[in-house]
Amino acid sequence: KISSDPVKVEDFKELAKLALPKMYYDFYAGGAEDEHTLRDNIQAFQRITIRPRVLVDVSQIDTSTTILGYPISSPILVAPTAAHKLAFHEGELATARAAAAAKTIMVLSYSSSFSIEEVASSCNAVRFFQLYIFKRRNVSRQLLERAERYGYKAIVLTVDTPRLGRRENDIRNKMIAVPEKNLEGLVTIDVIPDQGSKFETFANKTLDDSMRWEDIQWLRSITTLPILIKGILTHEDATKAVEAGVDGIIVSNHGARQLDFAPATVTVLEEVVHAVKGKVPVLLDGGVRRGTDVFKALALGAQAVLIGRPVLYGLAAKGEEGVRTVLEMLKNELETSMALSGCPSIKDITRSHVRTHYDKLH
Ligand code: FNR
Repeated sequence: KISSDPVKVEDFKELAKLALPKMYYDFYAGGAEDEHTLRDNIQAFQRITIRPRVLVDVSQIDTSTTILGYPISSPILVAPTAAHKLAFHEGELATARAAAAAKTIMVLSYSSSFSIEEVASSCNAVRFFQLYIFKRRNVSRQLLERAERYGYKAIVLTVDTPRLGRRENDIRNKMIAVPEKNLEGLVTIDVIPDQGSKFETFANKTLDDSMRWEDIQWLRSITTLPILIKGILTHEDATKAVEAGVDGIIVSNHGARQLDFAPATVTVLEEVVHAVKGKVPVLLDGGVRRGTDVFKALALGAQAVLIGRPVLYGLAAKGEEGVRTVLEMLKNELETSMALSGCPSIKDITRSHVRTHYDKLH
């Protein structure tokens, strides 16, 4: 049994399980179908080793970096995840304050339990907004305009969800649709689900499953904000994304909640990085639970990582303080792994600092 003083990020998972109703814990923790990808997102990191260099002056370690020009204290951002109120009554307001205190950037999910405007007024910090494309384009457009007006600095367009993956825990638990706070007050009010309707049914009624690459142009034409495309897993799509004019790519399999047997994200990171050829930043999420995971992703070419579930677990276990602790733990672990590998700053972390299973033994 775990003490109430967690020493690593995964300890928060146990605490969250104790704190949450089973339906909500399962919603956060679960993945698609047999959860092969869910396990592999984590195990793939464990197959990569670090090649430390010694006798480097590591008396000063600097984990700070920038993303789209915005300074952050470490290359660890908050991924967009739905419905934080299920974890803690202050929901995304608490998450936003914790991210600001940790001097990093939160990506607010479209499916947040507090509105774009409420989260913007919770504290002063750089924030990004995650968007889906809806069957009714006007809904996406209005959400985008609100995000712009309330000072969100980039749009994260999630493209791996033409429909919802089969999350069998949610199906078994009859997970209810959480009210879509950001849709309140829109002219298209009838797309808001009734309390108690099924999560999956609602998502599939509203998301546009006919969206194509050409449609990125439409989004590009209605905003001047940078667009990060989230959910790229192949070099083919990475090349198309760059051609479509996006400002960044997030290698993601949606925390293994969409296509089971999609590759673990860290196994395809380099493929994407090579295709992008430094034209835009590449970020990664999925299975990041340790500072060494962050180090490995950076060594393979990511500019930063995002964390999803650890934030939700921190929030469920200890509210705002829990999220802050999760972010601080990961940053401190990254700092330690940099010191022990001979990398005083983020730019010192190179490809030669890791070995993957596909590298030759020297
Ligand atoms: C998500 N994710 C997600 N992504 C997105 O673009 N919009 C969303 O609303 C959500 N909602 C969501 C809810 C929950 C409960 C989870 C766990 C995940 C995916 C998220 O942004 C991210 O890709 C993964 O969470 C990263 O994997 P880890 O860190 O959870 O392993």
